[in-house]
Amino acid sequence: HTIDNLYGNFAFSFARELPLHSVTITGRTDSRSTASPSTMAWRDLRGWLLVLLWATASVEAADVASPDGFAFEDGKTLLFTIRSNIGEDPQKAFVTRGNGNRPAPSPNEPLPAVYRSDLLDELPDTVRRLDKTYMVAEMRVDRAVVMRVVFDVGDYPDSLDQFNWFSPSRLIGAWPYRLDDVAKFSAFSIEGDANKERRFFIATSFDGCNGDRGFWLVSGARDPCGWGHNGWKGLAPALIYNRFKDRTLQQGAAYADQFLVYLTDTVDEFRAEFRKPFFHAERKQLLYTIKANIHKSALETFRQQQNYRAPIDDDLPILYRSDLLDDLSRTVKDSGMTQMVMELVKDHSVVAQLVFNVTKDVDSLTLDNWFSLERLESSYPYLVDKTKFNYFSLDGDVGEQRRFYISYNYGGCHVDAGFIAISDARDSCNWANRNWRGSPPLLLYNRLQNKPFHAGVDTAERMLVYLTHEVEDRRWKFRQPFIVDGDKQILYTITPNVGKEAVDTFKHQQDYPIPSDRSLPPIYRSDLLDQMDKTVRRSGRSKMVAEMRKNNAVVARLVFDVATDTDSLTLLNWFSRDRLVAAYPYQISKKIHLNYFSVDGDTSIKRGFSVTDTGKGCDNDLGFWIVTDRKDPCNWGSQGWKGAAPVLLYNRFRTAPFRTGVDYADRFVVYLTNHVDE
Ligand SMILES: *[C@@H]1O[C@H](CO)[C@@H](O)[C@H](O)[C@H]1NC(C)=O
Repeated sequence: HTIDNLYGNFAFSFARELPLHSVTITGRTDSRSTASPSTMAWRDLRGWLLVLLWATASVEAADVASPDGFAFEDGKTLLFTIRSNIGEDPQKAFVTRGNGNRPAPSPNEPLPAVYRSDLLDELPDTVRRLDKTYMVAEMRVDRAVVMRVVFDVGDYPDSLDQFNWFSPSRLIGAWPYRLDDVAKFSAFSIEGDANKERRFFIATSFDGCNGDRGFWLVSGARDPCGWGHNGWKGLAPALIYNRFKDRTLQQGAAYADQFLVYLTDTVDEFRAEFRKPFFHAERKQLLYTIKANIHKSALETFRQQQNYRAPIDDDLPILYRSDLLDDLSRTVKDSGMTQMVMELVKDHSVVAQLVFNVTKDVDSLTLDNWFSLERLESSYPYLVDKTKFNYFSLDGDVGEQRRFYISYNYGGCHVDAGFIAISDARDSCNWANRNWRGSPPLLLYNRLQNKPFHAGVDTAERMLVYLTHEVEDRRWKFRQPFIVDGDKQILYTITPNVGKEAVDTFKHQQDYPIPSDRSLPPIYRSDLLDQMDKTVRRSGRSKMVAEMRKNNAVVARLVFDVATDTDSLTLLNWFSRDRLVAAYPYQISKKIHLNYFSVDGDTSIKRGFSVTDTGKGCDNDLGFWIVTDRKDPCNWGSQGWKGAAPVLLYNRFRTAPFRTGVDYADRFVVYLTNHVDE
């Protein structure tokens, strides 16, 4: 129980478990402390307070260690223990005979601050005589085990000595994550790094303070690295461990309060209950869930072990985190699952969902990197279709604590645009803080594709992360082929003045169903447009047609070749002069000058699907057709405007300007086909 920094540089530890007359208070100093358990100095470095306190405890030394050692906790034989920050050199404490041979507390009492059994000097004998198979090294916090390494000492006990049991060759298990799949250790010994006094050191790689990786160490000196000396508190030892298999010590360091070495003949699966797969809604292996506004940080509770019980039925608790997250690569392999899903739920329905492919490069999968663009397979309610992001990570925007964050644009609160943000602190932007109820997390998602958060933000009630085989495809019905007239596969259609912009509805997913009678609705858009290469190949069709109709007759048509270079096809580039193979009612000769031939067209005045030669003034503008999404500045366009987009205008004559040749169609259609009638 350490209260750190309460008085500036002071830390004091109360060895409250000792008999009351031997309270220990030690001042924190920068040098190795000389405080001994029976004399205490409590000094304020600023000089305004000086307190001396001494206790008169006399701790009676035990006469002899009993031949059976110090038994504790149901059949364990304690060989060594040391508490953190008590002013004892751990290496010395471990090798000194008779050290701390103090009266053994009864099994239910706390462990002594330091104890070293002489049985360590006779390990082969001890192991055989006590018939113990395992030697365990363990770190604990508040009496709960946080880290453990298990060694087999049952085999070849004769070669054992007090140091060599702690070796990779005898290693048979480690918690909370495995070490036996690490091919090489950079350090694995009790002596460890003697220079830096990193004892009982298990490290996997050295790469400077920011890059060092490892399992744990018992530090006998103030460590030169921040991850080490943060646990130092002025007194040896610091018990430093790494909570995460796949993170550096800098990222994962935490500090224990007791280190133990003991013999045992059974090793209970520590935290077993948090490592059992739990299935939610039958096929979902739940790894994490949190409700909004429960005074808990989503990121922290996702990354760190929690003690929330696994749900017993589909009634999800406010917070649950499986230890299986700590070794995600193994978890995925053991589960046989292929997808990891993050989902936000509101009123019992999914309002936002991200599906990640976890079979891709499964060996390098970590607690953090599953949430990445490279693994993203699909998203709901719309496609995350950007390629550049300013954030796509769990850490997200660290300053604002926008976690699990997907953002592709910054530029002030009204411009911030993205898909999802889990807010772990009160945000400085209104879009993120207007539902802040004084407690994290706030589960935010953007209902509108490619719009700023402030326009489309909404909040959810629960977040879930789970593994599954096949995510229900929430948009399957928008990917069904819509085939009419035997051969035409409709990808898009719109009628004039329906109040929707043609270019916008063409480019983004829409929720218009295919009519059951297969008649053409006022507006329809297939998700198949988002994967044109696949769509064309699966359709077996070779031509893409854009067509204007009036009274059910074709009045203008462009035919594009999509059989050539199919791989490079996109939502927009099929509509190009290069792919044009035919036009109706007149051909568009290669010699004719056109300044627009694209879906976006002249965006400044919203002339989409433009095939035009404009810029000569309203009277002289030439062209084949235009779909306008606003009232056109030219009379020949604005006459079709009836207060709502779009206007479908085409030119009846090859040589006439729009002014004289214009007419208005009543439907625009885009479809795939093999046969274009003459
Ligand atoms: C996931 O990735 C693997 C390996 O790259 C790939 O074989 C598989 O097709 C992917 N799954 C999906 C659904 O894309």
